[in-house]
Amino acid sequence: MEIDTDSTFSNSDGDKMKTLLNSCILNKTTILKNRVVVPPMASGTADDNGRATQKTFDHYKRLTTSKAGLIMVEYTYVHPFGKSEPNQLGLYTKEHTEAVRSIAKIIKDSGSLSAIQLVHGGAKSTYELTSGNLIGPSSIIIPSKVETLEKPREADLNDIELIIKSFVESANMAIAAGFDIIELHAAHGYGLNQWLSPITNKRSDDFGGTLKKRARILFNIVEQIKLNHPNILLSIRIPGEDHFDDGLSQVDMIWISKELETKGVSLINVSSGIGGWRRPRNKTGEGYLVENARIIQKEISIPVIGVGGIETSGYINKSLNNKSLSLAAVGRAILKNPGWGPQNGLI
Ligand SMILES: Cc1cc2nc3c(=O)[nH]c(=O)nc-3n(C[C@H](O)[C@H](O)[C@H](O)COP(=O)(O)O)c2cc1C
Repeated sequence: MEIDTDSTFSNSDGDKMKTLLNSCILNKTTILKNRVVVPPMASGTADDNGRATQKTFDHYKRLTTSKAGLIMVEYTYVHPFGKSEPNQLGLYTKEHTEAVRSIAKIIKDSGSLSAIQLVHGGAKSTYELTSGNLIGPSSIIIPSKVETLEKPREADLNDIELIIKSFVESANMAIAAGFDIIELHAAHGYGLNQWLSPITNKRSDDFGGTLKKRARILFNIVEQIKLNHPNILLSIRIPGEDHFDDGLSQVDMIWISKELETKGVSLINVSSGIGGWRRPRNKTGEGYLVENARIIQKEISIPVIGVGGIETSGYINKSLNNKSLSLAAVGRAILKNPGWGPQNGLI
């Protein structure tokens, strides 16, 4: 296997042709054996209290047969008030830590790197699921193309402190459980996306208004995790844009990505914004969100993960060589057929 000396394409690689079989090095220390990522995909297999079950273990064992370089565990809530759906995975107690430790081991034993995505649903949930604590940056219903959501209560400073603390503690638990990479979910309309977006954050205090203030909660979480664990590999899943009028723009997200790179983040996972992950109406074809990834990859040196209907090795190789992305996430194609990899030469 060819090992790159750097994680990006801009320097030591020169004009060498890339394929998805090339490895990728993160932070000069950690090797992804190839450029394929299984992105986080909710399996709905946890028990009522968010603990992984045998079904969860079987699910991830199945995904490891893809032999992807990186397998990301689904969105996992960091506090009971941040739960978005029944049977969602949670990580906020010792019992949860032990349960996810088994998932990390299954992935690592297979030779792939393991990541877990941490999330606080914020206002993208129900009063029932959050025990009456449906909280958003502002009391604004999140626009959704697939469901009608409830009107949240506006967060006060205690709520903000609790959200930050919950992410930081959950990250500590994920690291203790043995994950190689921690991802914070700031896309798809969930909590951190709500804070970033001018559609859902209309606050006039230090956590709203300018983009910098709207990003404060995300930046605080990143800084605190890095303070506790300077060498931890952090990935942030961001919207390439909100895909809604008056929402987060590509320019906003370039700025956010650059700031995150400066703060020591190792990977940027570019997806969609406030309306959820599904294909936006005006986007067609394989790699329907990769243009957003390309715009960000051009501006930063850390690797960008691109996503959206990617199904063929030919598309991935082309995207690697035209520098649209450094890593390609293949979601539903691998979920449907984890043998996707070998069939496409990924072994
Ligand atoms: C069943 C399912 C569950 C998903 N759950 C998550 C999730 O937990 N976190 C997340 O960021 N995205 C989630 N997504 C979005 C995927 O990570 C990915 O961005 C999306 O499926 C598009 O990629 P694809 O076209 O390769 O499937 C989910 C997608 C599917 C199909």
